[in-house]
Amino acid sequence: MNIVIISIFPEMFSALTVGMPGIAQKKHCLTLSVVNPRDFTIDPYRRIDDRPYGGGPGMVMLAEPLSKAVAHAKSLVPESTKVIYLSPQGSVLKQDAITTMANESAFIFIAGRYEGIDERFIDRYVDEEWSIGDYVLSGGELPAMVLIDALSRLLPGVLNEPESARQDSFSLKDSDNRTLLDCPHYTRPEVFEGTGVPEVLLSGNHSRIAKWREQQRLLRTRQRRPDLR
Ligand SMILES: C[S@@+](CC[C@H](N)C(=O)[O-])C[C@H]1O[C@@H](n2cnc3c(N)ncnc32)[C@H](O)[C@@H]1O
Repeated sequence: MNIVIISIFPEMFSALTVGMPGIAQKKHCLTLSVVNPRDFTIDPYRRIDDRPYGGGPGMVMLAEPLSKAVAHAKSLVPESTKVIYLSPQGSVLKQDAITTMANESAFIFIAGRYEGIDERFIDRYVDEEWSIGDYVLSGGELPAMVLIDALSRLLPGVLNEPESARQDSFSLKDSDNRTLLDCPHYTRPEVFEGTGVPEVLLSGNHSRIAKWREQQRLLRTRQRRPDLR
């Protein structure tokens, strides 16, 4: 997968050299590049924002440097690549949407700042808006990184055991195709601060273990996320 991020803070994305996005890049499953809209400004101060028409607090990102940044980004990926704006007003990201996105070969992600982006740019250049949750961050860089991390672990060849991603919360489904949370996990030592591990996990009986895990997933989901469908 080839992802171009448009951001005024390219240095933030150095965090993606570690963890799964780092592994995905080392394995050549993921290519990341960052385009800075400041490099496409024409004024001597390299301004990428201005005051909002109609007054009010804060600044708004200018459409023009962003449109030029998108044109440059499109020279790095196929012309038809989707442009995604990370925005608190977008659809809230869920695992199913991320799984669908993982089948694409390229994306352009736009990280906003300040009060957001001139609406005319969004209308003209953005294909989809996605939010990482119902709260507001100061910029779209962390949301872009959240999405890139979630995508990285789904790319073929990245995880040593791809089955582990299929058994994670939100990927698991019950017999009625309802979304489940993962079961609890335990590792050594057998007793930690006086508490042991559930006996069934030490039994070596694979069908009993599978049944216990299934029950735990159902129980957890009912207790913690009865809203999941
Ligand atoms: C301070 S926010 C702008 C919020 C905007 N005025 C509003 O209320 O909808 C600045 C930027 O952070 C990013 N952002 C903030 N919260 C986000 C979220 N929950 N999901 C995705 N992006 C977010 C967006 O790129 C946004 O343009």
